Amino acid sequence: MIEVGRNMMADEKALLNQVVKEISRSSKYKDIDKQVIRRIAEKEFSENTRIKEAIKVTKRRLHQIAGVFFTSRPKYSYWLEELRRLKGFDDSRFRETCIRIMRLHSSTKERLEVLDKFYAGIFSEVSPVNSVLDLACGLNPLSIPWIPQFERLEYRAYDIYADLVDFLNAYIRLLPVKGHAEVRDVLFDPPRRKGDLALILKTIPCFDQIDAAAIQTMLEKINVDNLVISFPVRSLGGIEKMMIRNYTERFEKITRQMDWNIKKILFKTELVFLMSK
Ligand SMILES: C[S@@+](CC[C@H](N)C(=O)[O-])C[C@H]1O[C@@H](n2cnc3c(N)ncnc32)[C@H](O)[C@@H]1O
Repeated sequence: MIEVGRNMMADEKALLNQVVKEISRSSKYKDIDKQVIRRIAEKEFSENTRIKEAIKVTKRRLHQIAGVFFTSRPKYSYWLEELRRLKGFDDSRFRETCIRIMRLHSSTKERLEVLDKFYAGIFSEVSPVNSVLDLACGLNPLSIPWIPQFERLEYRAYDIYADLVDFLNAYIRLLPVKGHAEVRDVLFDPPRRKGDLALILKTIPCFDQIDAAAIQTMLEKINVDNLVISFPVRSLGGIEKMMIRNYTERFEKITRQMDWNIKKILFKTELVFLMSK
């Protein structure tokens, strides 16, 4: 335990640096943005000043907000090779391969069942959309070919994993879209660029685990005309009425300051709120 005294601040800082360093060395978390690791460690810190305990709780939190969604270790180079070997995005096998990859992230996997209707439903309400910001994207950019007339889009994607972002940049180059992926902690440092539409898909529950109070400030900073905020709705037993009610309340709370038009779309696996200025 750190001694509570005059040197505590310096000790805490040193300990925090040590926690970030240790976690950044581990194979599971080495690609996560260090700022994110630091913020989470800092938050868990006061109650957990023993280094081992601080590392353990920080890793647990990182797992809950990011690691848990990968159902197996991502094979980015192998996936890229597979996609590159095909004759381009209009080869039907390209989409089949994207689907296979998206199955390996539980969040995108759940969306596959409704993917054909998902973007058609959203984009019919907000067209024309020429630029998309995908915040905390995970593997969702692999679903770009399902967006109606995706060829006209400029697509920007953000997540906390550097290796995921490298893969997405290489992937986007295989598509006829302008776009770029970037490592960014979107909760504390949301992108400022102007976009027609931002996607925040099924990530509010993760943000709630990092800093629930920061969500409203983040939403105020995003510079878009349309915003899609979604929540997971399926548990093992099918669509859960409780989940829908709780997440609807959560949505209403975080957006109560925003005087935007709201449309609710309930897909089998996802509760979507489409907000337009
Ligand atoms: C539930 S998944 C959702 C992925 C994607 N939006 C989807 O619905 O398919 C949560 C994602 O948020 C990312 N994430 C968590 N905290 C983040 C943060 N502060 N900034 C950026 N991405 C974050 C995780 O790495 C993970 O990819």
